[in-house]
Amino acid sequence: MDTAAVSVPAHSDRVIFFDTTLRDGEQSPGATLNGEEKLVIAKQLARLGVDVIEAGFPFASPGDFEAVHKIAEVVGTETGPIICGLARATKQDIDAAAAAVKPAVRKRIHTFIATSDIHLEFKLRKTRAEVLAIAEEMVTYARSLVEDVEFSPEDAGRSDPEFLYQVLERAIAAGATTVNIPDTVGYTTPEEFGALIRGIKENVPNIDQAVISVHCHNDLGLAVANSLAAIKNGARQVESTINGIGERAGNAALEEMVMALYVRRKLFNPMFGRPADSEVPLCNIDAQQIYKTSRLVSNLTGMLVQPNKAIVGANAFAHESGIHQDGVLKHKLTYEIMDAQSIGLSENLIILGKHSGRNAFRTRLKELGFELSEQDLNKAFLRFKELADKKKEISDWDLEAIVNDEVRSYPQAFQLEHVQVSCGDHELPTATVRLLMPDGQELTDAAVGTGPVDAVYKAINRLVDVPNELIEFSVQSVTAGIDAIGEVTIRLRHENRVFSGHAANTDIIVASAQAYTNALNRLHFTLASAPRQSPQSATHSLETPSRAGV
Ligand code: KIV
Ligand code: ZN
Repeated sequence: MDTAAVSVPAHSDRVIFFDTTLRDGEQSPGATLNGEEKLVIAKQLARLGVDVIEAGFPFASPGDFEAVHKIAEVVGTETGPIICGLARATKQDIDAAAAAVKPAVRKRIHTFIATSDIHLEFKLRKTRAEVLAIAEEMVTYARSLVEDVEFSPEDAGRSDPEFLYQVLERAIAAGATTVNIPDTVGYTTPEEFGALIRGIKENVPNIDQAVISVHCHNDLGLAVANSLAAIKNGARQVESTINGIGERAGNAALEEMVMALYVRRKLFNPMFGRPADSEVPLCNIDAQQIYKTSRLVSNLTGMLVQPNKAIVGANAFAHESGIHQDGVLKHKLTYEIMDAQSIGLSENLIILGKHSGRNAFRTRLKELGFELSEQDLNKAFLRFKELADKKKEISDWDLEAIVNDEVRSYPQAFQLEHVQVSCGDHELPTATVRLLMPDGQELTDAAVGTGPVDAVYKAINRLVDVPNELIEFSVQSVTAGIDAIGEVTIRLRHENRVFSGHAANTDIIVASAQAYTNALNRLHFTLASAPRQSPQSATHSLETPSRAGV
């Protein structure tokens, strides 16, 4: 057994943030990330200060296994977060999770089995007695491999509380160090969910030997409210995702919970046995990293943040109405309960221009938290110079867009080499594109369309013969001003699967072509790799066939 110390006490005097952006978040349709993208996000989550990163479901596919393993190796350092792998309650899943998180200094296996009658009858086809025995056996097995084991009774929100108490008692007796209570289908209300946590505290005899965690889905828009109600009733770990992404309507949004705990600290402090006016942080999250993390996750997953989204939406700190503007000018606190700068949303300072040198560029990127290799810095600097020729003043947001776009570009089967359009009110929109194909050939084709983007996409389709339907197309400008960079995000559907693409350029037609090529590349590599299993779709059996590569 691995004997690395378990770092989280059973009775934490703060909230432990367990981030599942890379597991539950990545299960959102179209949010699929490749291994490099997952690593980039994991590094940023570590900078943000999350306590635990659920890096994936290692049994799902060799690619998922590799991604978790790499994150464990690179991010799971002495001072880094706990790295966790998800496993159904089967030996094969648990073996895969244990092997994947092995390089991390602090590692966790999160194993789960459903406990609601509806899941037992229709999904598992098992009796309560069988589920009790499996939970006990698999937690014992996981504990024989790692010190830190989290157990979840899936669909706890709809489970019979009496049965839930029994399962939790057995799991803790078998060695679970955290028991996580999922509202898997986002069904409960804050009062009910708070009462469920209170009931667990009062009725599970050995509950003081484990941290109570919660994992709330947002189907009724109550995930954050339910999680906060759980904290009030004794939960000390919350599971969340950046921007609230996740299965269906998503999970509780990390940024919303962090800011609720901060802005309303006087309300929460006494729940942790502190004086109401204590300024000791209620969690380890560095709120200054919130905005940047949100942008990164949105760019890489292609999951746009709605403008009115709390904390990180474009309008969250904007005041449109005259009355509000007047009030804010007289005194900020008339209509603002928090400061935009508290989440790292800078004043969009104009820092660099055409004459800025490499050193100034490198220094500013470092200040923004981007640590680039020499090769990546060169690529980003060239792109910066190109941009500076077109745009007089370059802001932090421009820099961030360049780095996200240029440095984080991943394997490309199809490379866009050239795009040219002609259009106008008396023209037939026509596009010519040249692509470098996977076999090294350069191919050129042209098409007409209803508009310039349609023409470009039709021309690309003539070269890349993969039937797909464009289901979302959005352009957002990174900054104000006519010379701003435009960010294009698209989502396309191929055989019931969704793939996203993102690109940034001052020319939105070029960005559109690049975003589409990126999505086609994702589609290409996904189809070329081994199929993935979803943790929720398969049945639980102690005899799950083993997967190659583990
Ligand atoms: O929603 C859920 O129940 C889950 C479990 C795997 C914890 O994601
Ligand atoms: Zn979930």
